[in-house]
Amino acid sequence: MSSQIDHLLNEDRRFAPDGAFAADAVGTAELYEKASQDRVAFWGEQARELLHWHTPFTEVLDWTNPPFATWFGDGELNVAYNCLDRHVEAGNGDRVALLWEGEQGDERRVTYAELTDEVKRLANVLEGLGIGQGDRVAIYLPMIPEAIAAMLAVARIGAIHSVVFGGFSADGLRSRIDDAGAKLVITADGGYRKGKVSPLKPAVDMALADRNGSGVQESVEHVLVVRRGGNEVEWNDERDVWWHDVVPAASANHTAQPFPSENPLFILYTSGTTGKPKGILHTSGGYLTQATFTNRNVHDIHPETDIFWCTADIGWITGHTYVTYGPLANGATQVLYEGTPDTPHPGRWWEIVEKYGVTILYTAPTAIRSFMKIGRAIPAKFDLSSLRLLGSVGEPINPEAWMWYREIIGATTTPIVDTWWQTETGAIMISALPGVTETKPGSAQVPLPGISVDVVDENGAPVGDGNGGLLVITEPWPSMLRGIWGDPERYKETYWDKFAEQGYYFAGDGARLDEDGDVWLLGRVDDVMNVSGHRLSTTEIESALVGNEAVAEAAVVGASDETTGQAVAAFVIIKQSYLAAHSPDGLAQSLRAWVGEQIGPIARPRDVYIVEELPKTRSGKIMRRLLRDVAEGREVGDTTTLADTAVMSVISAQVR
Ligand code: WT7
Repeated sequence: MSSQIDHLLNEDRRFAPDGAFAADAVGTAELYEKASQDRVAFWGEQARELLHWHTPFTEVLDWTNPPFATWFGDGELNVAYNCLDRHVEAGNGDRVALLWEGEQGDERRVTYAELTDEVKRLANVLEGLGIGQGDRVAIYLPMIPEAIAAMLAVARIGAIHSVVFGGFSADGLRSRIDDAGAKLVITADGGYRKGKVSPLKPAVDMALADRNGSGVQESVEHVLVVRRGGNEVEWNDERDVWWHDVVPAASANHTAQPFPSENPLFILYTSGTTGKPKGILHTSGGYLTQATFTNRNVHDIHPETDIFWCTADIGWITGHTYVTYGPLANGATQVLYEGTPDTPHPGRWWEIVEKYGVTILYTAPTAIRSFMKIGRAIPAKFDLSSLRLLGSVGEPINPEAWMWYREIIGATTTPIVDTWWQTETGAIMISALPGVTETKPGSAQVPLPGISVDVVDENGAPVGDGNGGLLVITEPWPSMLRGIWGDPERYKETYWDKFAEQGYYFAGDGARLDEDGDVWLLGRVDDVMNVSGHRLSTTEIESALVGNEAVAEAAVVGASDETTGQAVAAFVIIKQSYLAAHSPDGLAQSLRAWVGEQIGPIARPRDVYIVEELPKTRSGKIMRRLLRDVAEGREVGDTTTLADTAVMSVISAQVR
């Protein structure tokens, strides 16, 4: 990490906001002023201005029982009404909400009126299937308009969605369904990925099969299936329902009922430091306020003219906040793309930018770095002149990638916003405002108006400008998580216990304040890895590995990787009986595949090193820092606290 810090310390390029951009920007310096006068009143004003409240709130924040916050507590609203009906009622029903592009090149334009209609029909179908306020619905769909409709229909009736990324395996899906106790699963036969149909329904069938004797009470009553891939699927007449049989036939009359501001909106699972994913719980009024506010002011949305494109899958928080909720609450027009960036050719994204005249692009550093690797000739073939703002999210963006993004994709003039936030924060927390802030390549920079952060030492004391430490959030914010589903203790422990005395939220990230007080993120300080902007837990992958019959012990680390930021490197000890009968290469290959099946392809290790021992302290704790040195090809650091100091030279020799 220290070479990375030196590198960042030497970064002194500055880019003042473009004059013409600033003149027309939505987010102005006035926001900072207003928020600094009265932070809580500021959020109250935003909530009133940006959203429709069926019942206006009288109290903005109740923080009398920290860390459990209540935002706009006595207010009532309907999230789907805010994303749909109100735009139609305002005369904007013909505006395109979704410019959908399938991987095969098929397209669909869905207007606000059409999407509202579809969501109303689906809401009626869901109610017909017995779903009501507070029930959990798992959504396991490709990036098709039905996925957005499904989220909004669940929200419309006050139920709770749990979107599971289509790349997760049947096991991953099963544990999420069970933890949330989902009553309904909405899925598709399959979706297009890398030029072929990637099946989804079979994973749902597998997740729900063979439960007899497992001790788990099956919660799922129905599976609603969209036909997309056209692949053969098995059918359970009692449980499964085709979307096309019931949704078009349902009534398009459905009145959006008001729900309390704190009505749960969704659960989204994310990896923590233990093996079990955490169900991050978000609620309605505060979440939607900050999603709408940040999308408007950070992404500078002008709903009448912009074509917004956030490339994230709806299976991640970025897709929740900046595909579904933010842009639709703002009444914006956006691109939704089903497939992968390089199918059928490596210029696919730039072709989409040109075709739809995308004005704002929001994507991840890992994507930018992989485009850098292929070279500037590919984007140069397309007309990218419609782009007027670029955004980055998911992991630190290195200054080289930032500059490439600006020069090659943004024609050397387009502003970049590097946005720091988390599944837990619900929406952007630290970012430049593109019409206000002078930007610095590699720094996420300043907390947004109404957001308070600091960098502190282990004891919670502010480190001050020019120093590094731990990033904390010092005041509650509207879109903060309200808890971990079913586990209030773990919520307190994970985020609030570390700085209980100060009452700070511990983000789990290292950070540095520069001489101007701007924030530079330095990566996770816990056992969480960030691979291509996706969060993975070392422990989760370790438990998958030791779940394989050949493995005696396993340790996993995130090793730095040129393209994906970090990559999974696994060190495993194989049981003697297996070592004798199998080749090390064969074992490594099959363990990579095994992790892919257990968790999903994103968790598949880049490297599996077969070793005889793991470096442990006298108390038995694995020293991952030393394994990271090995995986990154560095000289191994201080080994004096190891129980057996010789073990590292043995491991290094084996790995080489
Ligand atoms: C972790 C959260 C926010 C949606 C995508 C990831 C890292 C995120 C940045 C950024 C440096 C970043 C942090 C954070 N991260 N954005 N702009 N600069 N690091 O959400 O899966 O909840 O992961 O991603 O380490 O803690 P997530």
